[in-house]
Amino acid sequence: MDFKNLISHCKEYGFIFPSSEIYDGLSATYDYGPLGIELKKNIKDYWWKSMVQMHQNIVGLDAAIFMHPKTWKASGHVDAFNDPLIDNKDSKKRYRADQLIEGYAEKIEAKIQKDVAKAAKKFGDAFDEKQFRETNGRIIDRQKKIDYAIDTMNQHLKDGNMEGLKNLIDELEIVDPEGGSRNWTEVRQFNLMFSTQLGAIAGEEGKIYLRPETAQGIFVNFLNVQKSTRQKLPFGIAQIGKAFRNEIVARQFIFRMREFEQMEMQFFVKPGSEIKWYDYWKQTRLQWHKSIGTPEDHLRYHDHDNLAHYANAAVDIEFKFPFGFRELEGIHSRTDFDLKSHQELSGKKLQYFDPADNESYVPYVVETSIGCDRMFLSQVSLALQEETVPDADGKDSTRTVMKFHPAIAPVKAAVLPLLKNKEELVKAATDVFDKLKGHVICQYDEKDAIGRRYRRQDAIGTPYSITIDFDTLEDNTVTIRDRDTLEQKRIKIEDVAKVVSDNCTMNTIL
Ligand code: GAP
Repeated sequence: MDFKNLISHCKEYGFIFPSSEIYDGLSATYDYGPLGIELKKNIKDYWWKSMVQMHQNIVGLDAAIFMHPKTWKASGHVDAFNDPLIDNKDSKKRYRADQLIEGYAEKIEAKIQKDVAKAAKKFGDAFDEKQFRETNGRIIDRQKKIDYAIDTMNQHLKDGNMEGLKNLIDELEIVDPEGGSRNWTEVRQFNLMFSTQLGAIAGEEGKIYLRPETAQGIFVNFLNVQKSTRQKLPFGIAQIGKAFRNEIVARQFIFRMREFEQMEMQFFVKPGSEIKWYDYWKQTRLQWHKSIGTPEDHLRYHDHDNLAHYANAAVDIEFKFPFGFRELEGIHSRTDFDLKSHQELSGKKLQYFDPADNESYVPYVVETSIGCDRMFLSQVSLALQEETVPDADGKDSTRTVMKFHPAIAPVKAAVLPLLKNKEELVKAATDVFDKLKGHVICQYDEKDAIGRRYRRQDAIGTPYSITIDFDTLEDNTVTIRDRDTLEQKRIKIEDVAKVVSDNCTMNTIL
C-alpha cells in the first residue's frame, strides 16, 4: 500500500493523528490515538521484556527529561550536535546540506538501478548484477560520481568544513528540489537541542535543554544503579523515554519527528572486550527484529565508515520503509567517552571496582538505540495490506487488513453477537466479553452485518473474531475466526481466553 494511504489509514482508524490538528497541526509532531497507544505499548513491552526480563544482568531506569546543563557540555551535544543548513535565496526554503548531496547521489543510483533492471530483463537467468556493475562503462562512470560526492561530503563533515560543503553543492550543480534554483546561501551549523528556562532564573544561567537522547540519563546514573543493584560487569541499563530534536527537515510522517521516543540500552563492559560485545548485540538486535516477523529482505546492516568521535565501531540496522532503506536502530561501541567526560566535568569518579582483577577502571560501553516511533512505522508498513479474499457468498472481494504479529496487535479479539436485536445472543456475547477482558484487550461490536464487522477488525489487525450465534445458546460453543487464514472453528466458551492468550503471547518470541 502506498505511503499516503498508510498515513490516512492510521488517522481513520485511530492509530496516529497530526498534533493539534484543529489549529492545522504542528509540523513533525504527532499524537497516538486509541489503537496507536496499544500498538506502541506492545512494541515497548516486547523490547523491555527481551532486554530486561530476559537478561539477569540488564536493569531498568527512568531518568528525568531535564538534566543538569553540564551533562550536554560533557556529552558533546552543546558543541557538536549540529546539522549543516543551507537556504535557497529564491524559494526561501531551508535544507540540510548533507541531505541535498545524498539526494544527488540517490538520483544517480536510481539511474543505475534502472539500467540494472533493464539488463536483468534482457539477459534473464544468466544475468550477473555484480559483474554488470563492474564492467558496464556507463554504470562505472555514474558510480564514480556517487563515490566522489559522498566521500567528499563525509570528509567535509568530519572536518567541520562548511565552506567545502557549499563548494561541493555548487560543483555538483545541485538545484533546489522545490524551485530548481541554484541561488544558495553559505552553509551554517545549527544546534538541534531545544532549550528552555529553569524556574525564574533568567538568561544563560537558567538555560536547560530537553534531552536529545535518553542515553545520558543512564551514564550519569551508572554508579547509582551499579551500587544499588550490586551488578557486576558486564551489565546493562535499559531505558524507554522521550527525546527531543529540533530537526530542520522533518518529514516522512513519524520517521523523523521533533518529539519522539527512544528505547536505549547501555551495556557496560571491561575495556578490551567491547568489540566482542558489540558483535553480540549486533546479532542479537537483528534477531529481535526477525523474531517479531520482520522479513529478512526488509532488514540490512549499514556499517558506519565515518565514526563519531566517541565510537570505535558503529552499525545501523536499516529497514525497508515505503520510501526506501533507512536507519531503524543504531548499535554503537561508545568506548569510555561518555563516562570519562562526565567524570572530568563533574569531578566525581565514575569507576567500577573489578573484584576479579582487584582494580578500578572506567568501563567501556556498547549501546543499542532504537526509535520506538520508527519501529511502529516499520510494523505498520509491513502489516497494512490489501488482498483479495472470498466473501460470505464465495465471491472475490478486496479487504484491507493489518497483519500484525499477534503479540503486538493492538486488539487481540473481537466479540460479535450474530444479531444485535436478540437479547439472548447479546447477553451471551457480553458474558464472553466480560470473561475475556481480564486477559487481553478486546472489543465488543454488534453494529452492522457480521461480514462488515469482520472487515472492520481486519482493518485494525485483530487476530481473532469470536462470533456468538444460536448454537452458542445450545452448546456453549462459539466460532473463532483467524484474521490471516480466515479459517473458522468452533471452540468452547471456557477455552476462548486460553486460545486467544496462548496465540497472542509474547513468550514464544522472547
Ligand atoms: N543515543 C544514541 C542516539 O541517540 P541516534 O542514531 O541519534 O543515536 C537512535 O538515534 C535512534 O533514535 C535512531 O536509530 C532512530 O530510530 C531514532 N531517532 C533519531 N532521531 C529521530 C527522530 N527525529 N524521529 C524519530 N526517531 C528518531
